[in-house]
Amino acid sequence: MPSCKVHESLKGQKAMVTGANSGIGRGIALALAEAGADVLINFYSDPTAAAEVVEQIEGLGRRGLAFQADVSKEDEVLAMFDAMLKELGTIDILVNNAGLQQDAPFHEMTLRQWHRVLDTNLTGQFLCAREAVREFKRRGVVPEISCAAGKILCISSVHELIPWAGHVNYAASKGGVMLMMKSIAQEVAPARIRVNSISPGAIRTPINTDAWSTPEAYESLLTLIPYRRIGEVADVGRVAAWLASDDADYITGHSLYVDGGMTLYPGFATGG
Ligand code: BGC
Repeated sequence: MPSCKVHESLKGQKAMVTGANSGIGRGIALALAEAGADVLINFYSDPTAAAEVVEQIEGLGRRGLAFQADVSKEDEVLAMFDAMLKELGTIDILVNNAGLQQDAPFHEMTLRQWHRVLDTNLTGQFLCAREAVREFKRRGVVPEISCAAGKILCISSVHELIPWAGHVNYAASKGGVMLMMKSIAQEVAPARIRVNSISPGAIRTPINTDAWSTPEAYESLLTLIPYRRIGEVADVGRVAAWLASDDADYITGHSLYVDGGMTLYPGFATGG
């Protein structure tokens, strides 16, 4: 057994969360800070919201730092990692969360909509993961901090598995995240770097307001969720803090569905 800091969670660790000004990213950033991490809050739009998250993190007694970058642009990602290393010293945890939807019927989907989603959801995760792995390998394991040299959490979706009509670009991006995550995990495991995904189902955030904001929409959504409630960002935040911690040290290359059973094919509960 390596000597691990199993019960002090994320104390002293430095995390970067992309797309952390709202939704799941914000929930994860706050959960990591609660568990003891200092956090760089990446945002693309809405600096005011990002500043509020930083304020909440500082209220918890941690360091927070907001940084604007488009994760699909290599120069902006490099500048963000420079700031991370300069201001926080290193990176122990990357949460690849930034993502978006640009929905359209397939025959009407434009190349622009296709690229926008693939660029942010997949290329953005590649660029940030590559920079994180470079720093993890340079620094190696610091046993007082964590028994891993670094941890990457890719925020995927149940739609890495469940096909999704009208969202072909989004589902393709998340399917890509799944095998990118597993392939990176296989490659970097000998360097004691852990790479995993969290794949949320329907979580109450701005990305899917249409699916929960009226009683009719909510009832219809519940037919897809055996656990019979929508997820909250804190449901994902708690899992992220655990998966990034040494409590999960023997887990790598895994996609963890946080979905109230959405991937259990609920239609088959009465059919088939
Ligand atoms: C999507 C949401 C959707 C959920 C479940 C997520 O990945 O971003 O819009 O509600 O999957 O279908």
